Amino acid sequence: MTSADSDQVFRVGLLGHGTVGAAFAALLPEHAARIERMTGLRPELSGVMTRGSGSFDEILEGSDLIVELIGGIEPARSYLLQAMEAGRHVVTANKQLLSQYGEELWDAARSHGVQLRFEGAVAGVVPVIRVLQESLAGATIDRVHGIVNGTTNFILTEMARTGMTFEEALVEAQRLGYAEADPAEDVDGRDAAAKMAILARLAFDTPVHLDQVRYEGIEHIKPEDLEYAHELGLELKLIGTAERIGPGLSVRVHPAFLYPRHPLASVSGPFNAVTVESEAITEITMSGPGAGGPQTASAVLGDVISAMIPPASTPPTSQVLEIVQDVSSAFYLHLDVADEPGVLARVAQVLAEHEVSVKSVVQRGLGAQARLVMVVHPVLESRFSAAMDELAGLDVLRAPARAIRVLEEEFG
Ligand SMILES: NC(=O)c1ccc[n+]([C@@H]2O[C@H](COP(=O)([O-])OP(=O)(O)OC[C@H]3O[C@@H](n4cnc5c(N)ncnc54)[C@H](OP(=O)(O)O)[C@@H]3O)[C@@H](O)[C@H]2O)c1
Repeated sequence: MTSADSDQVFRVGLLGHGTVGAAFAALLPEHAARIERMTGLRPELSGVMTRGSGSFDEILEGSDLIVELIGGIEPARSYLLQAMEAGRHVVTANKQLLSQYGEELWDAARSHGVQLRFEGAVAGVVPVIRVLQESLAGATIDRVHGIVNGTTNFILTEMARTGMTFEEALVEAQRLGYAEADPAEDVDGRDAAAKMAILARLAFDTPVHLDQVRYEGIEHIKPEDLEYAHELGLELKLIGTAERIGPGLSVRVHPAFLYPRHPLASVSGPFNAVTVESEAITEITMSGPGAGGPQTASAVLGDVISAMIPPASTPPTSQVLEIVQDVSSAFYLHLDVADEPGVLARVAQVLAEHEVSVKSVVQRGLGAQARLVMVVHPVLESRFSAAMDELAGLDVLRAPARAIRVLEEEFG
């Protein structure tokens, strides 16, 4: 464990001075006096490291706690491990690192008796990590759903609101600063997958690696999918799910339609929200601004303050759950079909052969515009995918079928 020097100063070494790091460096002195009143220690920046300035060894030597806001795997991983080995508490917002090397980092924190805190890594300033690790530590969690990527939620909200294409809404998100110049990891679902791996790890006390999270992005979503969703009274979101399935666990990210009373259905724009379901608590939802420099810096500062107040808490792994890949989902299905008699019957027969049962169907348009829009009941995804493969072979389809999952749960 570390201790502050005789002046009652708590020395914070900062690695990275970009969007979040610079915001953190500005926030710390603003709150120093208040933090001193709370903790009896006055936090001070003891050193800042960027690519071109600062020495890690010197910063480590002169700090009680290290804040890592570099991002990526290396050198962030080595710096955090070295800092913990040297007995320093560490705070990071690095979801990619935690979702791939989390076990190594948690082991290091435990074996060196220091704290590893990472509230800023998931859902920005929404305190989901603390709630899962501390407030809900006594509950058996059945399921976590999350909208954990603000960029994609903004894009889907804009597409639904204005009828824009995905590409147009992405340009708008970039113009407003909600999407980075390279938005690949946001729009393809990988960023959300990393965050769901971290949430699943905490909610289910089992190791979860990013590679075990199946993910799909929103690049293929078309304006007409949102139009139909609107007609059906559904909202389309990029949803992360971590849920117990029998003795195992499924963790996945994909676009999904939600019924309007689902707690995540009303989360719009760049906001994030996480819903935790457990028999003991029924359901709780936390929501708020998902990312951004000042918001994430505020979560990081909260972690620094927590680390200044012992005791340490690092989550142990109490079990290893098998990761389930094939789960049941309801689907929305959009088929551009030939306008001729018997088409619906042929489609229905293929679906029935694969035990896919239709909940509702609407026939729209005539001639070259004819299409079928269906919602099917929950079915094993492997079975649905086999039905889709067979449908693709039908000569009555004018274009590849489009399918999007539907979350069946209704609340309230
Ligand atoms: N931006 C957000 O809204 C947000 C939200 C949640 C979590 N996060 C996480 O917060 C972390 C930081 O993100 P950011 O957006 O602030 O990144 P950023 O703007 O790209 O800043 C990265 C900083 O790290 C420094 N750096 C990069 N490689 C380094 C190296 N090898 N050695 C020393 N310093 C190095 C950079 O130095 P130079 O200044 O010399 O380039 C820069 O100061 C990431 O893990 C990210 O996933 C960000």
